[in-house]
Amino acid sequence: MPISVHEATGTFHLYNNDLSYIFALVEGYPFQLYYGARVPDEEDFSYLVTECWMPSSVGASAECELVSFEHLSGEYPFVGADDMRPPALDVRTASGCNVLNLVYRGHTVERGKPALEGLPATYVEDPSEADTLTLTLADDVTGLAVDLVYTVFAHEPVIARSARIRNTGTAALTVETALSGTFCPGDDRFELVELAGSWSRERHEVRTPLRPGAQGVYSLRGHSSHQFNPFLALVRPETTEETGEAYGFSLVYSGNHRMLVDVDAYGTTRVAAGINPEGFSWPLAPGEAFQTPEVLGVYSAGGLGAMSRALHRVFRSRLSRGAWRDRLRPILINNWEATYFDFTEDKLVEVARAAADLGIELFVLDDGWFTNRNDDTAGLGDWEVDYAKLPHGLGGLAERINGLGMDFGLWIEPEMVSPGTRMWVEHPEWVLHAPGQPLRPSRHQYVLDLSNPAVVDYLTDRLSAVIGSANISYIKWDMNRSFADVFSQTAGAERQGSVRHAFILGVYELYRRLGERFPQILFESCAGGGGRFDPGMLFYAPQAWTSDDTDAVERLRIQWGTSLAYPLSSMGSHVSAVPNHQVFRQTPLKMRADVAYFGTFGYELDATAFTAEEREAVRAQVVFMKRYRGLIQFGEFYRLRSPFAGRGNECAWMVVGEGAREAIVAYYRVLQEVNAGRRQVRLAGLDPEARYTVREQGVPEGEAALYRRSVSGAELMRIGLNLTDESCGQNFSGRGDFISRIFVLERV
Ligand code: GLA
Repeated sequence: MPISVHEATGTFHLYNNDLSYIFALVEGYPFQLYYGARVPDEEDFSYLVTECWMPSSVGASAECELVSFEHLSGEYPFVGADDMRPPALDVRTASGCNVLNLVYRGHTVERGKPALEGLPATYVEDPSEADTLTLTLADDVTGLAVDLVYTVFAHEPVIARSARIRNTGTAALTVETALSGTFCPGDDRFELVELAGSWSRERHEVRTPLRPGAQGVYSLRGHSSHQFNPFLALVRPETTEETGEAYGFSLVYSGNHRMLVDVDAYGTTRVAAGINPEGFSWPLAPGEAFQTPEVLGVYSAGGLGAMSRALHRVFRSRLSRGAWRDRLRPILINNWEATYFDFTEDKLVEVARAAADLGIELFVLDDGWFTNRNDDTAGLGDWEVDYAKLPHGLGGLAERINGLGMDFGLWIEPEMVSPGTRMWVEHPEWVLHAPGQPLRPSRHQYVLDLSNPAVVDYLTDRLSAVIGSANISYIKWDMNRSFADVFSQTAGAERQGSVRHAFILGVYELYRRLGERFPQILFESCAGGGGRFDPGMLFYAPQAWTSDDTDAVERLRIQWGTSLAYPLSSMGSHVSAVPNHQVFRQTPLKMRADVAYFGTFGYELDATAFTAEEREAVRAQVVFMKRYRGLIQFGEFYRLRSPFAGRGNECAWMVVGEGAREAIVAYYRVLQEVNAGRRQVRLAGLDPEARYTVREQGVPEGEAALYRRSVSGAELMRIGLNLTDESCGQNFSGRGDFISRIFVLERV
C-alpha cells in the first residue's frame, strides 16, 4: 500500500519506488515535512517539526505558541493562520471575515482514483494503479470543510492533488482563493524552468536561478495562454537532461492559472498552483461544494528527461481518453495556408486529390466554410454552411473527399461570435460585455458567455447538427482571442467573479457532450496555435495544434520546449510551404519534414503546387512516417542537444521504442559553421549491451550506413553518434544551412 498512516504520531507517508511525500499533524494542523526521493517508511518523522521560539513569528494558538505556520509548511495554507505567504485558501463570510482555523477532522484511504466532477483529471484503469488519501479539515465557526485529495500512482513518480471546499454551515460563504495544492521540495538550491513565449513562439524553455520572494507563471487571459504554460519545474543547478533532481508541476486546467514559487527568508521553497485568485471568487451557499482542478507533482532523480517521460506516459495514457488515445494519428493535410478563406469545393477537392495521391490520409477543411466568412471580420456564431463556396454542403464535400480514399475533418471555433451574425443580433446578452463600456475586439471577434448554460446548450445542438451533417472523423477546435472585458450579462452581481472559471467549465462540458455524441471523432484543440496547449485540453482532445508557426527552425524551439511536459502524440506538427508564412524563411522540404515527424505529422500547404521532385520527396516522407509513427508517437522521447543552449545552432532528440529494439535520432543544424571540429552527439535510452545498425534516412541505399559495422549501445551513448561534418565547413559538400539528418537504429 503506497499510503501509510501512522495514527499514533499522526504521520502520513505517500510513497512508491521513486518518491516519498510526508506530512504530519501537529496540534491538529497538517504540515508538509518532506517531498523528494523515496525514504523508508517510519512511524515518526517529528524531528522535522520546528518547535521553538522564532522571532517575529505568530503562534498557532495561545496553547501552542511555539508552533508557527511560518516555520512549517501547511498542507493547505489558509488565511488567518500566520503563514505570511500567499494562501492556498481564502474564504470570506457575509460579515467580511476571512480568518479561519482549519483543523484535522479525519481521513480515508482508498484504492484507485476518484474522478473530479466537471473537471478533467488523470485516471486509473485498474484500482491497483494508485491509492488515494482524502484528508478532511474543518473550521467550526464557519462550517467550512476542506477535503484534500492526494493520489499516489503506484508505477509513476507522480502525485496528484486537488481540494474540495464544502460549506457545511448555515450561512453563505465566498471562496476568494482555492488553489489545487502546495508542494515543498525542501531547500532553495533550485533553478526554475518554465515554458514562456507568445503567439508563434510558444513554450520556449527558460531556466533561471531561484531568488528570495515570489516568482513563477500565470495567466489572466481567460485561457492557459501562449505566454506561460501551466507547467514549471524546479531543478538543481547541476541537473541535466539525464541526471540530477527535477520536480515537475503541471496544472490540469485551461483557464486563468497561477503557479507561484515562493522562497521565504528561511530558505524554504514552496510551489503553490491553482486557479489564479486574481479576478476569481465563487459563492458557496450552505450545502454547496467547490472542486478545484488537479495539480500533478512529478519527482525525478534522472534529470529533466525522466521527468518529461513520466509526464508523457501519464498524459498519453492516463489523462487523454477515447477511441484515439492509443491509435496511430492520421497524416493530414490542412487547407489553411493553402487557400486561407479563398476556396471553392473544386479547389479543395483538387488539393485533397493531390494529397491522396501522396498517401495522405485525412483532409481538414479549416476556417472559412460557413456563411459570411470571407475574412476574419465576420461569420463566427451561426455555424451554417456557405453554399456559395460549398454548393453540395459539408456532406457533399465529405463524400467527394471520402471518394478519394481520405477521411474528412473540419475546423470550428465555438466559443466566439462575430458582430452582425444572427446570434449576435438575436442574443446580444450571450456576449461577455459590461454594459455601457466599450466592446473590446480581438481579431474582430468577441467571447461568448459559456458560463451561461443556455449558450452551451445552443452550441451543443448547433454543432451536433453540423458534425452530424457529414461524414466527419476529425475536428480542429479553435479559440482565437484572450479575454479582457469580462462581464456576464445574465449572471447576478455575486456570480461575476465566477465567470472566468465557469466559462472553462462550460468549455469542458461542451467538449464532453460532443465527445460523447461523436466518440469516433479525433479532436485536436487549438487556440491561435498553442494558446491552450494544456493538460485540461488533453483530457478531451488527445492532440493540440502546437503553434501557428510552422517554420522548421522556430519549431525546433517550440517542440523542444513543449516536450518538457507534453508527449509527441499530442503535438500537431505540419510541413508548410516556403517562404514560411510566419517568418518568411526558406528551409528545405527535408528539414521541414524532419522536424514535423516529431509529432502527429501532416501538411499545411497546397499539394497541387508541388513540383514532380517534391511530390516524390513527400511520397517518401509519408511512407517513412507511416512506418515509424508508432515508435515516434508512443515511444520514449529523449532530448539530446538543446536549441536553447549556446548559440542555439544545433538541436538533437531521439525516440526509443519498446525494449530499446528500435530508435530514431534526429539532428538539426541551423547554419553552416566554418572550420568546425569533430562532433559527437551522445544518445540515450539504448541498451548498452546491445548492438545497433545505424542507417541515415533519405540517403541512397549504398551510403545509408553511418558506420561500416554495427555499434554498441554503450558506444552510441558514451562516445556518441558521429556527426562530424566531413567538410569541416571548408568546402561545399552538399551540406550548408538548415541541415537535418534522421537516423534509424535497429538492434542487431
Ligand atoms: C488560428 C489557427 C490557425 C487557423 C486560423 C483560422 O489562427 O491557429 O491554424 O485555423 O485560426 O482562422
